[in-house]
Amino acid sequence: MSEEFRPRLHFSPAQGWMNDPNGLIKVDGVYHLFFQHDPGSINHGPMHWGHACSTDLVTWRELPVALYPNELGTCFSGTAVEGADGEIKLFYTAHRRIDDQDYQVQCLVHADQSLTTFRFDAANPVLDNPGLVCFRDPKVLWHEASKRWVMAVTHGQSIGFYSSQDQIDWHFESSFGEGHGRHSDGPWECPDLFPIMDSRGAEHWILIVGIGSGAYAAGSGTQYFVGQFDGSAFVNDNRPGTTLWLDYGRDFYAAQTFFDRQGAAPIVLGWASNWQYARITPTENFRGVMSLPRTLSLTETRQGLRLAQSLPPSVAAAFDASADPGVYRREVELPLTVGQSMNIALFGEHQPQFRVTRTAADEATILVIRSQTPAIPAFGHSYSVVAPFPKAGPLRLDIHVDRGVVELATADGLIWITQLFYPPPAGEHKLVGLR
Ligand code: FRU
Repeated sequence: MSEEFRPRLHFSPAQGWMNDPNGLIKVDGVYHLFFQHDPGSINHGPMHWGHACSTDLVTWRELPVALYPNELGTCFSGTAVEGADGEIKLFYTAHRRIDDQDYQVQCLVHADQSLTTFRFDAANPVLDNPGLVCFRDPKVLWHEASKRWVMAVTHGQSIGFYSSQDQIDWHFESSFGEGHGRHSDGPWECPDLFPIMDSRGAEHWILIVGIGSGAYAAGSGTQYFVGQFDGSAFVNDNRPGTTLWLDYGRDFYAAQTFFDRQGAAPIVLGWASNWQYARITPTENFRGVMSLPRTLSLTETRQGLRLAQSLPPSVAAAFDASADPGVYRREVELPLTVGQSMNIALFGEHQPQFRVTRTAADEATILVIRSQTPAIPAFGHSYSVVAPFPKAGPLRLDIHVDRGVVELATADGLIWITQLFYPPPAGEHKLVGLR
């Protein structure tokens, strides 16, 4: 049963548990993907950093586990960064329980240029806990304008920003989050912070934040903010009540971008699961898959600047070259009139996964449907995503199917929906449109 559910073009570990992508970095033409990993079980146990690499974002080679728990705790999520001197550092949260409470501190690891040896800094933790139960997932970057290192890190329901000259001595600058975007009971997790240019060459800053529950499609999800960052504080360009979703689907979490010193357009990747059921999905040798990597750009919309995402050419080409009937991508064109609907079924004709209705001249509503699976109580559900219907021509959907991992894009990449399914054997897969 288990290998039937292993995707071909989405990364999954050979064995063991996987959640968040960590320390994404491109060095010397090689993409490195670290990840939250328990190599010894398919449950979220003592976290290690697993490690894989790729030159084309399609074929991943799994490498030995990079970080093992030590006396400071297990290794929660974090980041990798390369300085102008070529030095590569990893930052992660050491997590342990003290008196029945989580205790989380930030640690520094030195890596060699090939990312094969890892040395924990003797000064760890480089940033001790300031009295917060949730203090984790450091994202570290060099802020050129203020000539300093910056760390964005979970501060409960906000993101804290710290600065440093030497990556060891960190000073609190500010926090962002209260009253902005979407909150729920849990913390804001796995921040990412990076600059991106608009089409006129002006710099903007993106802050990505995960919420473990209460997201768009219920459970975990990933929001982002567009704004300005001066090395000290983040200022939201949108009204505080505006929530922007990097993905509307149920299975896209803890997203991070690859650090790339060459300054290429950011490429983002998320964990394709949801804490509502991540621990009970029906695989045996491994549990957890990543989303596809997607290139980010900024698009001017009527509401303001928004992130659009597209597949890197190598990933799109790999779908097109696939001979596996369960792995393909299709561009579907729907010339619907107002009030008309079309069902899209991916795994046999009996059960559509999407029902697309033209709800107004300029609007389509995509109903996402996943049937109930008794073994995974929170799995079955449906929810709607509203998309603009183009002024001229049909609605275009780009559907990527990789066994049971489905990523649907529309609105020129402004809307993505990532969903897991546990479908019948690949031989029965066939995309059909049903009125
Ligand atoms: C997000 C998260 C992080 C944490 C990690 C632990 O999915 O909860 O906040 O570092 O998972 O595995």
